[in-house]
Amino acid sequence: MTKVLAFNCSPKMENSNTALILNPFLEGMKEAGAEVELFYTGRLKINPCTGEFNCWTKTPGKCYQDDDMNMLYPKLRGADILVFATPVYVDGVSGPMKNLMDRLIPLAQPFIELRDGHCRHPLREGTKHGKVVLVSNCGFWEMDNFDPLLVHMKAACKNAGREFAGALLRPHGGGLRLMMELGMPLDDIFEAAKEAGRQLVRDGKMAPETLKIVSRELMPLDLYLKAANSIFQKALDAKELVKL
Ligand SMILES: Cc1cc2nc3c(=O)[nH]c(=O)nc-3n(C[C@H](O)[C@H](O)[C@H](O)COP(=O)(O)O)c2cc1C
Repeated sequence: MTKVLAFNCSPKMENSNTALILNPFLEGMKEAGAEVELFYTGRLKINPCTGEFNCWTKTPGKCYQDDDMNMLYPKLRGADILVFATPVYVDGVSGPMKNLMDRLIPLAQPFIELRDGHCRHPLREGTKHGKVVLVSNCGFWEMDNFDPLLVHMKAACKNAGREFAGALLRPHGGGLRLMMELGMPLDDIFEAAKEAGRQLVRDGKMAPETLKIVSRELMPLDLYLKAANSIFQKALDAKELVKL
């Protein structure tokens, strides 16, 4: 059975825009027969890496820190598919997701080999070379807000000898909740996220047309600017939290 390990790395956890895309995606994987485990980094204690390479020399394969990574390492080693879900924060991944990524270092060996003419660290024996999927949403309207994350995730996968299997990207992600509140149709997006999950488990890959639906325009740019700025102005006037 395909083992999927997923992380929702938004501090907003169940109430996040991230969850709106991640959850149907995971549902689709379950429907296709995968065993799915989901963690919220917001409920985990994952300290930042302290960079001393204890896990490479003093205690090979084991980080000296005593936190929730101890429970996660065996799961990370055995996963066929890793799903990292994050909002775009300052053109990158969220802080909790970066901590999690940095703490994957014990899964690799210190030795450096040349793979396709490039320096790489081989993974330790017993760690599966699984697939990696990125699920992300951002506040701004344009798709190119995901470019830095895509470059980062692809590079990290190459480094670890894992296959980057693609990304579910939701620009103007805050618009999802707005449109849900207005009762506007979004079923095609949620269904496409689910279908991408089914495809990945069933066919080993996700169809570009399906992923395109997940990212489809919710509203034209001029309307997005008006709506977002008016929501912020109202919240500012009322000194309330903004629901986006
Ligand atoms: C600290 C911070 C930094 C952000 N940086 C960006 C950014 O660089 N580009 C962008 O499009 N959105 C940015 N956003 C907006 C979030 O990506 C957006 O609100 C998203 O929908 C939040 O997703 P979530 O509900 O899953 O946490 C930022 C939000 C925060 C709180």
